[in-house]
Amino acid sequence: MDERASLRSHLEKSVSQTPDCAAACEVIETIAAATIELAGRIADGPLAGITGEAGGMNSDGDQQKDIDVLADDIMRRALRDAPVAAVLSEEAALPEILDRDAPLCVAIDPLDGSANLENNISVGTIFSIRPRGNDILSTFFEPGTAQCASGFVVYGPQTTLVLAHDGRVDIFILDRRVRQFVLIKQGVRIAPDTPEFAINASNRRHWHGPVRAYIDECLAGTHGGGAADFNMRWIGSLVAEALRILVRGGVFLYPADARPGYREGRLRLLYEAHPMALVMEWAGGAATTGRRRILELGAKTPHQRVPLIMGSVRGVRDVAAIHEGIEPMFDNSDAPLFARRGLFR
Ligand code: F6P
Ligand code: MN
Repeated sequence: MDERASLRSHLEKSVSQTPDCAAACEVIETIAAATIELAGRIADGPLAGITGEAGGMNSDGDQQKDIDVLADDIMRRALRDAPVAAVLSEEAALPEILDRDAPLCVAIDPLDGSANLENNISVGTIFSIRPRGNDILSTFFEPGTAQCASGFVVYGPQTTLVLAHDGRVDIFILDRRVRQFVLIKQGVRIAPDTPEFAINASNRRHWHGPVRAYIDECLAGTHGGGAADFNMRWIGSLVAEALRILVRGGVFLYPADARPGYREGRLRLLYEAHPMALVMEWAGGAATTGRRRILELGAKTPHQRVPLIMGSVRGVRDVAAIHEGIEPMFDNSDAPLFARRGLFR
């Protein structure tokens, strides 16, 4: 008989037993239970009446599928019974107030990467939990360092929960027989210098100088005088890329670029970049815009976008260094501006 700890027994052993921590554990369990329901619907797909068809647009102009709407309903319904003052979801323009006196606020991407679903590629739920301030809505505009926990679930070959809580990162998988998450890895540490990068390279012509320079050096590898030959991955699913980084390291980049709508990057600060940055840092990795640490940023609007570069400390540090060394940021030319000493020498 397998004696792995369940999520509940694991949370009960939390080091910090403050009231806020107990409330955070309750919210984590609530979200986890909701993701188990969602995992079932995702796995059944068309059998559960999920057509994958577009229903409309969300507040930010993204195509919404029926499963996005369903995921949003499932998460909201669940959070109403948890100690949550307000929830900000990718699928709604503004935060919804749930219980003004409750101690926590939650930002959530109920179903990230739903465009991948018809191809049977991993999708996920991303969440960020923070203590409520006196003014509920202002809570969401505090820097990412205000988060007390965050995490994500990957609906893939296995349903995996990655949880940043109590200052460390633990990984659970769903045991479908008992409908419970069980602990498989505690205190995950990201490999510091895996030579692997992930970026949507089809956008190269739109990138700004520093990102081009970094990726070009990765591609040149030892042939170009660098210390390593890089491997590349691009799944097009943030949660799957983040899990890969936790398992084997590497760096992920979704930078700002020159396309209209991408001047601030693509990913959202409050329910994508902040929670991922907490996971990365608590697992010994890093997350930056290229110029600033993600966790120090506060949003000005609920759905604000941000460039996100995250993963192994070495890769993130090299990308940041190249941003410091190359000006102006918005020059897209190749040589000679970028003819510079390699990063890895
Ligand atoms: O949030 C949306 C998302 O699907 C992420 O999961 C993923 O990292 C990114 O968009 C993929 O973007 P693109 O379609 O530009 O490759
Ligand atoms: Mn998303």
